[in-house]
Amino acid sequence: MAFELADGALDVLRGITLTIRQGDFVSLLGPSGCGKSTLLRLIADVLTPTQGRISVLGASPSEARRHRVLGMVFQQPVLLPWLTAEANVALPLRIGGWSRRHPPASSPAALLQLVGLDGFHRARPAQLSGGMQQRVAIARALVSDPQILLMDEPFGALDAITRDRLNEELLRIWTQVRRTVVFVTHSIAEAVYLSTRVVVLSPRPAQIRRIVDIDLPYPRRPAMKDTPEFTRYTAALRAALGEAE
Ligand SMILES: Nc1ncnc2c1ncn2[C@@H]1O[C@H](COP(=O)(O)OP(=O)(O)O)[C@@H](O)[C@H]1O
Ligand SMILES: [Mg+2]
Repeated sequence: MAFELADGALDVLRGITLTIRQGDFVSLLGPSGCGKSTLLRLIADVLTPTQGRISVLGASPSEARRHRVLGMVFQQPVLLPWLTAEANVALPLRIGGWSRRHPPASSPAALLQLVGLDGFHRARPAQLSGGMQQRVAIARALVSDPQILLMDEPFGALDAITRDRLNEELLRIWTQVRRTVVFVTHSIAEAVYLSTRVVVLSPRPAQIRRIVDIDLPYPRRPAMKDTPEFTRYTAALRAALGEAE
């Protein structure tokens, strides 16, 4: 994947071959600016690759987008400030009359409960903390019942304590809904803690440095972060990230 800039082409992704298994929790780990968000945007059909091919559940990314196979969560929750939490979650159902043709598998209220926001249905974004807003964004991403959840550093703007808590919540939700998750992060520990598999990317133009299966059992527990197995994974990933080009 290359971007055309005024002074030439910017090569961002090079020779990436990656298969993500259904139901996996895959983290893309790489230095800032290497092309992680670009890779997610290609999967989500926000960008079209200049070379190569992407298949989402056997279809093209644009077909996948039309069928709302994908849900997205970004670093910023991007909620509409004048709508309640519940109305923000329901918003994708209203766009294009989607809910008339596809009755939602879970109601917005049930999804708010799933993300731990019971009792906050009527709250506006300004009345919610950053972590709570991000929970609303996760519920919104799930409302069209997507098969795949794309998450681009969803907890990157949160403090460490809130981030740890939302990691727990995300794993609980993932265990319940069992969707495929593609999760972008530049935190090594977060990648190990959450994932079944971690893909280490090189600096731009991103190439795959290593793919590491994380054979730690679920449910994952915070105390696992202090075990030698966990540390072996973080050390291996750190080494893969730091390898000379
Ligand atoms: N739409 C765009 N047009 C031109 N360059 C872009 C565009 N989007 C991203 N880039 C460039 O591509 C590179 C990778 O960006 P990005 O995928 O956002 O990195 P990451 O998410 O890994 O931090 C950066 O150098 C960025 O400036
Ligand atoms: Mg990014």
